[in-house]
Amino acid sequence: MSNDDGDGDLEARLVEQEAFEPPAEFVEQANVSEESIYEEFEENWPRSWTRAADLLDWETEYNQVLDESNGPFYEWFADGTLNAAYNCVDRHVENGDKNRVAIKWEGEHGETRTYTYQDLYREVNEFAAALRDLGVEEDDVVTLYMPMVPELPIAMLACARIGAPHSVVFAGFSADALATRMNAADSRYLVTCDGYYRRGDALDHLAKANEGLGGVDHGVDAAVVVDRLGDDGFGHDLKGNQYDWDDLLAAHQGDRVDPVERSAEDMLFLMYTSGTTGQPKGVKHTTGGYLAYTAWTSHAVLDLKPEDTYWCSADIGWITGHSYIVYGPLALGTTTVMYEGTPDYPERDRLWEIVEKYAVDVFYTAPTAIRAFMKWGGEFPERHDLSSLRLLGTVGEPINPRAWKWYYKHIGDESCPIVDTWWQTETGGMMVTTLPGVGTMKPGSAGPPLPGIDARVVDTTGEEVDAGRAGYLTVNKPWPGMLRTLYNNDERFLEEYWEEYSDADADEWVYFPEDGAKIDDDGYITILGRVDDVLNVSGHRLGTMEIESAIVGVEGVAEAAVVGGDHEVKGEAVYAYVILEDGYEGTAEMRDQIVAGVEDAIGPIARPEQVIFTPELPKTRSGKIMRRLLEEIANGEELGDTTTLRNPDIVGEIQSKVQK
Ligand code: WTA
Repeated sequence: MSNDDGDGDLEARLVEQEAFEPPAEFVEQANVSEESIYEEFEENWPRSWTRAADLLDWETEYNQVLDESNGPFYEWFADGTLNAAYNCVDRHVENGDKNRVAIKWEGEHGETRTYTYQDLYREVNEFAAALRDLGVEEDDVVTLYMPMVPELPIAMLACARIGAPHSVVFAGFSADALATRMNAADSRYLVTCDGYYRRGDALDHLAKANEGLGGVDHGVDAAVVVDRLGDDGFGHDLKGNQYDWDDLLAAHQGDRVDPVERSAEDMLFLMYTSGTTGQPKGVKHTTGGYLAYTAWTSHAVLDLKPEDTYWCSADIGWITGHSYIVYGPLALGTTTVMYEGTPDYPERDRLWEIVEKYAVDVFYTAPTAIRAFMKWGGEFPERHDLSSLRLLGTVGEPINPRAWKWYYKHIGDESCPIVDTWWQTETGGMMVTTLPGVGTMKPGSAGPPLPGIDARVVDTTGEEVDAGRAGYLTVNKPWPGMLRTLYNNDERFLEEYWEEYSDADADEWVYFPEDGAKIDDDGYITILGRVDDVLNVSGHRLGTMEIESAIVGVEGVAEAAVVGGDHEVKGEAVYAYVILEDGYEGTAEMRDQIVAGVEDAIGPIARPEQVIFTPELPKTRSGKIMRRLLEEIANGEELGDTTTLRNPDIVGEIQSKVQK
């Protein structure tokens, strides 16, 4: 990568530096600053987790912290009861903070909406009343297919209030993806939106939602549509069972709904994520453990205070937005910022303009974004006063030291600690990262496991590897934010996460996140990336199988293999190797059809960077596609051993077709 930040100074001073200490001013004010916390958690485990649960208001206090009797179906705080919406909204109103801002929303055009905790309380109640009126009962799954509008967190909290789990489907996903998820969750209710803005253009989201609804096998009882676009809308008439959000709120003006008392182990939400098969996995999170865990990590890692203005630039359609735009920050009574649009609209300083405008204290984003900022250059953040920032965070993929240092200097002015947080949809919240008020930071390494988290780096037999050696990440003890199962599929839950390293007979359960990692002498863990067939494109998790089945669904395609190739900004990009049926040719039109097929089945995020037509795929003698080889070809790397191939001659031919 070239040194395009034009800052020789940075090169000279930071490039060699491998460890950074948090500034004294930060440590002084940090929520957690004692190193002893690690020991404390270990000594009192699992009782130490009351520290997380104590951040919440319980309707019934729990007696037992952890029930291990049915591992790996662990239960946390199981005999306690609470309501997540009560914890994120009502209690702040009751505690005298009704006028504090809960959500600051900024639309792509620069319009803003501000919700105080009182405003949130009112709308959450009214929408909860509306949902009930539409027939939603406790434990019904409500699908939310919405862009970044304030109505999305409001709908999530309204669901939580009445004990109806939500299943948020990322707005960038296709109609097919929506239908698949609604079918899998047996969800009969949808909340969606007429559209939203992307780089100045209005997008017709409702057309996609309607198409998706057409694919819901069991039919849909009711759909609610938020009017985001007003006069820019696409003029869809609402159908018989479709309701306008504003009309519903007007009809329920002033209504109040008592928060439903939920058992800690009751489902709060479902979130579908990609796995190694074509079928997405419905990750189940619960009310008590998840909320305690996201509140605790927001407190200890993001260092959030109620008076902070905090901004996570993720989309609520992913787990990061659930945990660290909505539940964690609101449980703590913080002000959380939401932005509708893209970082480069109307200009490449948009995010920094927002940081300055709202005097953001804590900012959390993804390495892919940082790499883009770095590419655009330091002049964009320099246009703005970013001195309000106190702490920076990243999540979603490994961050290379160069990008880390750029972020540290150009955004944090060398005075903000950075937390590089490793976690997953399944873990509910952060697992491996430094505590910003305690630990030394090492660019490129996420850090030690958080207090109470028993993460290790092991070899294939489960033995811990020596410092410096690569191995596999495992988590050897349960934690409150962990997924409880895959929706309606305990068997797949066991298979996907627990089979590899557990000893079921000895009742020893080891969680396998399917990431490679290494560990250093100080116990710092560096994540090396997925070891399964899951890609990480711009921080988004995509299953190669899902993309392959979309491609094979295109007329004329016989077989496809998808791998990830290195990409300067996206981290990984989709490379699709495609074999056509006889009579079809690898033309530009064919390529376009394949790209369209992927967009239809999944969404534009999965769009192939390159489609490479080939008469054959490199296969082992036993007929397995050699993906490693295809990756090396995509990356223009020297090829590893090809002698075990059944068809070694094909390699050169494929190589010549990849554009570099
Ligand atoms: C990757 C996103 C390196 C990892 C919260 C994990 C990371 C997958 C980091 C989960 C990080 C996430 N450093 N890799 N700080 N954070 N990952 O479910 O491969 O969308 O397994 O959750 O992202 O992606 P998911």
